[in-house]
Amino acid sequence: MCGIFAYTGDKKAAPILLEGLSLLEYRGYDSAGIYMPDFGVVKTPGAVAELTKRIGDTASDAQSGIAHLRWATHGEPNEVNAHPHADCNNTVFVIHNGIIENFRELRESLEKRGHKFVSETDTEAISHLIEEFLKKDNDFEEAVIGTLQLLRGTYGLLITSTKHPNTIITARMGSPVVIGLGEGENFIASDPTPILKHTKKMVFLSDGDVAIVTPTSHRVRTLTEREIARPSETIEWDVAEASRGGYEHFMMKEIMETPEVIENALRGRLIPGEGLAKLGGLESVKERLKSIDRLIIVGCGSAYYSGLVGEYLIEGFGGIPVEVELASEFRYRKPIISPNTAVLAVSQSGETLDTLEALREAKRQGALILGVVNAVGSTIARETEAGVYNHAGPEIGVASTKAMISQIVVLSLIALFLGRDRNLSEKTGVEFSDALRSLPELVSKVLTTTDAIKAVTEKYKNARDFLYIGRKFSFPVALEGALKLKEVSYVHAEGYGAGEMKHGPLAMIDEHFPTLAIVPNDSVYEKTISNIIEITTRKGPVIAIATEGDTEITKIANDVLYIPKTHEALTPILSIVVLQLFAYHFATEKGLNVDRPRNLAKSVTVE
Ligand code: G6P
Repeated sequence: MCGIFAYTGDKKAAPILLEGLSLLEYRGYDSAGIYMPDFGVVKTPGAVAELTKRIGDTASDAQSGIAHLRWATHGEPNEVNAHPHADCNNTVFVIHNGIIENFRELRESLEKRGHKFVSETDTEAISHLIEEFLKKDNDFEEAVIGTLQLLRGTYGLLITSTKHPNTIITARMGSPVVIGLGEGENFIASDPTPILKHTKKMVFLSDGDVAIVTPTSHRVRTLTEREIARPSETIEWDVAEASRGGYEHFMMKEIMETPEVIENALRGRLIPGEGLAKLGGLESVKERLKSIDRLIIVGCGSAYYSGLVGEYLIEGFGGIPVEVELASEFRYRKPIISPNTAVLAVSQSGETLDTLEALREAKRQGALILGVVNAVGSTIARETEAGVYNHAGPEIGVASTKAMISQIVVLSLIALFLGRDRNLSEKTGVEFSDALRSLPELVSKVLTTTDAIKAVTEKYKNARDFLYIGRKFSFPVALEGALKLKEVSYVHAEGYGAGEMKHGPLAMIDEHFPTLAIVPNDSVYEKTISNIIEITTRKGPVIAIATEGDTEITKIANDVLYIPKTHEALTPILSIVVLQLFAYHFATEKGLNVDRPRNLAKSVTVE
């Protein structure tokens, strides 16, 4: 959730650290802080701009430092609770992403030994513990190792001390850490974004790793072994990919990238004319997949909804019974898993803790664990036995857009991959893969309707509640459409199965309560139309998302937004893009910062 960034090298650290932090802002941003040797600690509520103002021109010549963006878990987001946290003597400085579960016990025993705590955070216990170890034996590295042995919980840590100003010790347990290797300089961050400008050579730490980083060296170790091998990787994303590309918001930039994102997800993965999907990431488990008789998809937020679309796709084409579970519920339910069960995690960041823990539970019970992940080298990508990357590029907007669409595309490929190995005919496979290949063009067409969508949002700008309804493939679309509106506009919206209207929601309908009805020309069109009429006869305004050429719908709905005709199973991709644009325009009309909705963060690494 939080962002961590460190530099140690031969250049001035302050500008590098501040710029790096600003690139990490999407991870969480209620307060920020920095420590540099000979300069000390500066902390502030708010974001990096505040921190930059505070540091001003007084920035030191320090050539190393650690910096942090906080998303509060323990203690209010104020200056005192912002990181870094120090020991009693101000000699050890700690930055932490994660949660120390046993911090209360640790704090109590440290206070008994005379340590004075200034913040309410769990993190402060770490700096005091290190101080305590240093009293016994003045070895910085051993003091950190001794401290880590006492911690329970999750952490991505940056630790430095006044005695070793150019050495930064980092450690990972549950929260991501990546080391960037430069020439005469090294970087540490929670993800590659702030490092990319400086170097593409990176080392991803695994849980339990500790690394000692200086300007010219890095050594990775564990709590018990003094040195272990962690080869570096070259990450090809460039920083420009992570900037807004001329749009006012990342959200719009990322929606506009959807055609390219679909191309990237499909690239090299379809065998035209044969209706086959080639998924290199699943090859190693291909034989095992043949004996799988149940698939459970787990995810959170939009990833969960793409899983719901995946359920229809994989049951329909893949011929395997599918269940979709909120990752946050899965492991508390004592799921019954056999060796013939596969559990598939869907996650953009690959770091969502609930999704990760659901996966670990499934692994403990012997399931085949798979992933659909965007962030290369993320924890979920590393912990799954096999999987498929989205290759959607970095997604900065907090509310998922392009990555969510990419997840549906990848799930479609998985459906085809599984189906052709079972009973799916070549003819159906060819039809479906042709439909997949035409998607980028169809989405581009949808994107040209952004002004028409904006015009509709203006008409409904005063509405305080929206209902989203759909059937079959459009049911998860309704859920995702409502989520998108809530996330970015803070207006109440509820997604419902269109067939369920009579069982409750219809009671709410009056002339002030608009409904977005997703009603493409599919096998349930007539039934959805009946549900729309139930609403209009009660004077409820209806905005329909319908297929081009459907003139009947104009007689029933107050407003119509069109999508091009496509395979029934792929209509969610087109209608979700419409609903993303609807949410975007509705929220920006209100002057809201859609990239960073209040109270939310991009990567949720707490349970
Ligand atoms: C957060 C984001 C959502 C995202 C969800 C799951 O809540 O705001 O947009 O869908 O996390 O994230 P993941 O990285 O696992 O896909």
